[in-house]
Amino acid sequence: MAPRVPDEIDVFTAPHSRMKELVNIYTEKMQCVDFRDGSEVISLLQDLTNTLYEFKSHESIENIFIMDQLKNRLKQRKIINAAICDCHNDNRLADVVQLVRTGTQVRERSIGERVSFGLKLQQAFEDFVRNFLPHMEEEEQVFQPLLVEYFDYDELKILKEVVLKEHELV
Ligand code: FEO
Repeated sequence: MAPRVPDEIDVFTAPHSRMKELVNIYTEKMQCVDFRDGSEVISLLQDLTNTLYEFKSHESIENIFIMDQLKNRLKQRKIINAAICDCHNDNRLADVVQLVRTGTQVRERSIGERVSFGLKLQQAFEDFVRNFLPHMEEEEQVFQPLLVEYFDYDELKILKEVVLKEHELV
């Protein structure tokens, strides 16, 4: 495990706490929703749309304010790290977003179709979570130490403030 960094320059842990909170809420909701009931499904999809937007925003904020900065810094030092380039290319978020979009007509479908849709949605969300949790762990354990290595304390302090502000966590 990477050594713990001071809270004021830790750019990942606070946003990830929020992401993990959302993961837990929706993991539970997915199990509780009665997919036979069109109104329940519509309500879930409306909530989920906002939450998926929050996941997507998290990814964009990291790309723009952390990963691009880190890539540029490493490039200046002539260091290539493929993990940084690919870190948001293999998550399953797009699959869940796509399913939620197609689910908006669910009220007009038969009960069997709604149940089938629910199973697909549960599976897609599970796949996303199975990928997302270790991904966040990697960011905390691999990318945070790289930031500490290639940025100075004051730069990271400002970066953390920007990241929290962009996530609306301050
Ligand atoms: Fe912090 Fe890339 O999820």
